[in-house]
Amino acid sequence: PPLDAILNMHDFAAAAEATYSPKAWAFYSGAANDCLTHAANLVAWRDILLRPRVLTGVRNVSTKTRVLGADFSVPFFWAPTALARMAHPEGEKAIARGLAARGSSLCLSTNSSFSLQEVVAELPRDYPVMYQLYVNKDRAVTEAHLRGIAKLRPRAIVVTVDLPVVGKREADERIKTDVAIASADNLQQKVEPGKKVGGLARATGGFIDADLRWEDLAWLRGITDIPLFLKGIQSAADARRAYEAGCAGIYLSNHGGRAVDTAQPAIIVLLEIQAQCAWVLERMEVFVDGGVRRGTDVLKAMCLGASAVFLGRPFLYAVGYGQEGVEHAVDLLRDELETAMQMCGITELGQAHPGLVNTALVEGR
Ligand code: FNR
Repeated sequence: PPLDAILNMHDFAAAAEATYSPKAWAFYSGAANDCLTHAANLVAWRDILLRPRVLTGVRNVSTKTRVLGADFSVPFFWAPTALARMAHPEGEKAIARGLAARGSSLCLSTNSSFSLQEVVAELPRDYPVMYQLYVNKDRAVTEAHLRGIAKLRPRAIVVTVDLPVVGKREADERIKTDVAIASADNLQQKVEPGKKVGGLARATGGFIDADLRWEDLAWLRGITDIPLFLKGIQSAADARRAYEAGCAGIYLSNHGGRAVDTAQPAIIVLLEIQAQCAWVLERMEVFVDGGVRRGTDVLKAMCLGASAVFLGRPFLYAVGYGQEGVEHAVDLLRDELETAMQMCGITELGQAHPGLVNTALVEGR
């Protein structure tokens, strides 16, 4: 369908399913085992209900957000997702340009098809971006890699900690392919050209160190002073621990349901943090992702104390239309968010608060 017929994130997914290669669709859309966590991520947002307030005068609304010491026009960003070049030849470059054109930004994956250097070259000078780090079993590789990344001054180093081993992604396993289709130049795990492998996740994620520990964070912080975030925090206990370990922030995520199936949705973890250690939300920036598809989802996360929200798959699908598709995706989500804010009686995200949501359905589970 033409871009102007795309009205929401679901339409982008349908367009991607119809046009992407079966391998790209399986890799992007898939999740671990029975995909229950991926489904639960989507359902959790639906089960949190809004409690609108009225008669507050909401004509002028703004979605401006300050996070990582930078100003953005929206509170949502692109989550680190590997190999965007399977969706479009310009992959991460087109996504980055589209996001920056609309005042949003991204957290680039270690397993991106283009390097951080190549991606920032597409953006205005010093445009704020984040970088996602997978720690290599060969710590010397990560040390050299991180020193190179630090020179480009991303605003945060986001260490992914929810995937010590690769999840069991069955749709991805079933379609054997040549990894070259994914443009493997930037990958740390080298794959024999022409060799057909089952499972891109396995073929690109085997270098990740399953022995990474809390004690190792000091080593990472010794390499660079760029603020460190942990991505894949799934309990209030680990949220506290991340603060004690000196992290600048945490990123609540279950890896889009691609790590351990039946893990709880990030928004539930956020509720647990609210209940058990709400002070964490005052002292650290807290990011959330997984199943965010609507402006109302973004608003709910902000009401419950998130500093920012991330979307993974929707931007992999929007970039099928190139940079323009990504700009359109941001426009749709921002419009939905503005409308949701107005309907709930607020005009700035700073006014979002827990009283605007009813969490009884998810708390009862
Ligand atoms: C991911 N995710 C991910 N996370 C990460 O830290 N490093 C990575 O390289 C990847 N790669 C990746 C590839 C693909 C195809 C997907 C779908 C996801 C997880 C990602 O950052 C994020 O947590 C989820 O995608 C969020 O869920 P939604 O928005 O896709 O539902």
